[in-house]
Amino acid sequence: MRERQLDARLETAIRLFPRVRTGADIGADHGYLTLALLTRGIADRMWTTDISASSLQKAKNLMEKNGLSARVRFGVGDGFKAVGEQVEAAAVLGMGGVNIKNMLLEQGHLLCGCALVLSANTEMPSVRRTLMDLGYQIEDEALTEAGGHFYPVLLAKPGLTQAYSEKELTFGPVLLRRPADDVYRRYLQKKARDWESERGPAAEMKRQWIREEWERVQADGRADL
Ligand SMILES: C[S@@+](CC[C@H](N)C(=O)[O-])C[C@H]1O[C@@H](n2cnc3c(N)ncnc32)[C@H](O)[C@@H]1O
Repeated sequence: MRERQLDARLETAIRLFPRVRTGADIGADHGYLTLALLTRGIADRMWTTDISASSLQKAKNLMEKNGLSARVRFGVGDGFKAVGEQVEAAAVLGMGGVNIKNMLLEQGHLLCGCALVLSANTEMPSVRRTLMDLGYQIEDEALTEAGGHFYPVLLAKPGLTQAYSEKELTFGPVLLRRPADDVYRRYLQKKARDWESERGPAAEMKRQWIREEWERVQADGRADL
C-alpha cells in the first residue's frame, strides 16, 4: 500500500494527533487523514465522518482500496453527532472557523474530554476563543502555508490553566512563544498588509502586536517588514 504525498497542513495534523485506540476524522472528505493515522500506527480504529454522504463515499472507497474498512466506522452527519462512540482524539480540519466554532459550542457535551486537532481555513482566533470557553488548553500549534494561504493547526486538551489574552487568541499562545521560522515571518508580513487599512483602536492594537512580534522574530534572523 502506498500513501500519497500529503501537504504540510495534513502532515502537521498527523504529527499532533495523539496515539489512540479510537480516533475521529470529522469532515473527512477524501479520507487521507484517516488513512495516514491507521497506516502509521497512530490510531487502531477510526470514526470517519462527513456531513455529505458523497464526500464520505470518497473516504469509504479509499479505505476499501487499502484494505482498512474493518478498522473504520463511517458516519454521515453534522460534526460529533455522527461519531457513534467516545473517542480519545478527534480532528476537525479544512472547514471555516465559524463552522468549527458552532460545532464545538453546540456539541460541547459530545466531546467527552477528547483531545482536539483543529485547523480552520478562516477565523482561527474565534476557534481558539471557543476552546478557551470550553476549558481546553492549546498544547501545541504550528503554522503551515499553501498557495499563499496560512493554516494554523493546533492540538488542544481539557484543562485550561489560565485564560488567554486577546493577543494570544489572535496569534496562538504557542506560536507567540515559539522561535520564528520563515513561514511565521511571511504570516506576520501578510497580517501587517491585511491590517494596514483597518481603522480604530482595535486595528491599532493589532498593528502594535505585529510590531512587537516583528521585533521578537528579528532576533531569529533579519528581514524587512
Ligand atoms: C475541504 S473538506 C476538508 C477535508 C479534510 N478534513 C481536510 O482537511 O483535508 C471539508 C469537508 O468538511 C465537510 N463538512 C463541512 N461541515 C461539516 C460538518 N458540520 N460536519 C461534518 N462535516 C462537515 C464537508 O462536507 C467537506 O467534505
